[in-house]
Amino acid sequence: MHDSRFRLDDKVAVVTGAAQGIGRALAIGLAQAGAAIAITDLPNNASAAEKVREEIVQLGGSARTYDLDVLDLPAIQRVLDQIASEMGSLDILINNAGVRVRRPSLEVSEQEWDAIVDVNLKGVFFCAQAAAPHMMSRNNGRIINVASQLGVTALPERAAYCASKAGVINLTRVLALEWCDQGITVNAIGPGPTNTPMTSDVLTPEAQAELRMRSPIGRRLEPEEIVGAVVFLAGPNAAAVNGQVLLVDAGWTAQ
Ligand code: NAI
Repeated sequence: MHDSRFRLDDKVAVVTGAAQGIGRALAIGLAQAGAAIAITDLPNNASAAEKVREEIVQLGGSARTYDLDVLDLPAIQRVLDQIASEMGSLDILINNAGVRVRRPSLEVSEQEWDAIVDVNLKGVFFCAQAAAPHMMSRNNGRIINVASQLGVTALPERAAYCASKAGVINLTRVLALEWCDQGITVNAIGPGPTNTPMTSDVLTPEAQAELRMRSPIGRRLEPEEIVGAVVFLAGPNAAAVNGQVLLVDAGWTAQ
């Protein structure tokens, strides 16, 4: 039985930081659900972004690539406007771009703090601000912010990262309340540790042992395991889900 409530046909989805890791998996998963994808990432990741585009096309989907640094506010506006114009609409925004540094709190510099909070929190806000008018003009839109399990729980030596992700979760609630009467839902997902270039530092024997001890499933998630939650939140089934954070952490925060 074909259930159109699980489909994203005729929707245009923008994914930030989509050249690798979770963003890549989300771009491919949303394309498999029928959306046309704007794959955006830093200019220096353009060849990886092009490979994601080719994968989507090989799977029968539709995608374009765009350079977008979420620290560049004028570029955010320009590129999202360009996407809406070239692809016909802008229905779904996945705020996925993110960075992380692990450092003892006494050693974190202002520059490092700003680098993390600016990408993970400020970038999310200004991408949402630039995307929302396109959604309001059709009285329909979905914004999904990739927060983290570390937005609701903590680990040592990740002060800026945890603060930025907690900020994303409450920012999600504000935007959800502010824009719901214009057809937009704003939700967040909170992945647990996931097998991407960002977490390559957990490959040390000590880190693996800690992961086995702390994680209910004893391993990192695969990026593909994050996709279902996002496809759900992006689709018609989730019309009444707003301002929520859906933790995709294999039960880590249930402990
Ligand atoms: P990753 O490092 O593999 O990919 C991040 C992507 O963001 C890269 O393609 C990078 O070029 C892009 N990016 C970085 N700065 C950018 C900027 N200024 N403008 C545009 N793009 C930029 O990381 P991963 O693991 O795929 O992370 C994706 C999201 O998921 C991030 O927000 C991260 O915080 C979050 N997350 C990751 C978890 C993990 O264990 N890997 C767990 C929970 C959340």
